[in-house]
Amino acid sequence: MRFENDTVFITGAGSGIGRATAVSVAEEGGFVVATDINEDGGKQTVDAVEEAGGEAVFHELDVTDAEEFEAVVDTAVEEYGLDALVNNAGVGHPPAYTEDVTDTMFDYVMDVNLRGVWYGCQAALPHFKEQEAGAIVNVGSLASFLGLPKQAVYSLTKGAVLNLTRAVAAEAGSKGVRANAVCPGFIETPLGNQYFDSKDDPEAAKQQAAQQYPLKRLGEPEEVADAISFLLSDEASFVTGHGLVVDGGFSVS
Ligand code: NAI
Repeated sequence: MRFENDTVFITGAGSGIGRATAVSVAEEGGFVVATDINEDGGKQTVDAVEEAGGEAVFHELDVTDAEEFEAVVDTAVEEYGLDALVNNAGVGHPPAYTEDVTDTMFDYVMDVNLRGVWYGCQAALPHFKEQEAGAIVNVGSLASFLGLPKQAVYSLTKGAVLNLTRAVAAEAGSKGVRANAVCPGFIETPLGNQYFDSKDDPEAAKQQAAQQYPLKRLGEPEEVADAISFLLSDEASFVTGHGLVVDGGFSVS
């Protein structure tokens, strides 16, 4: 079992990729600290973990609140120990040309997607350095590498998340800490589907998008979760500062 006696802390665990990661980690013997702003979603994740035969607790956490983040991480350290952190919480925004993006939209996406990851690293790194062990996986996107049209704010946050990951890896490696990112293409989650829901015929738009992928389909949250689990695990013990693309080949075709 990859995560026997390990505690893995996951943000945005109440849905999509975060929930699938919680289940994947638990199936490999890990104890999951599932956090989210959405209490119902978080509790459903705990249920899903338990149904899979694992163990998890839920803590409400808004990743844009640095003090709250630090407090929940400290609680996790005291009560369960802390071996790994997945900075997964993220939001999208409606398609908008750069010049039409309001400050409100800019601040919201920056706060969740970038500050949230930043605060997570700040909260966990002192513990990981002290125990001279720890693994961080930040959830980027294909937009970490590509500039997506009408998605400038999302793209800038995800590009920054990848470079933050590299900086943390470079800085904390000598203390036994690894930091990596996963960079998914379109994944069938509430966030991923938001894009298609704005189209006249969401199902047709989805089928059309799938044809742009060499694998001729969109991704499933479990496929990203598996990549996250690999990067968290000892099987990736010499992998750090890496952005692992999980996109069904979209970016190479
Ligand atoms: P989702 O919408 O299913 O789940 C996101 C979770 O984050 C939700 O449970 C939500 O309540 C939580 N969240 C939102 N704001 C929060 C905050 N301030 N504090 C704490 N939790 C908060 O989305 P999905 O698709 O599972 O996304 C997870 C990550 O994957 C995000 O970082 C997203 O940008 C990234 N991603 C998703 C892709 C997709 O196509 N679904 C593609 C590439 C990256």
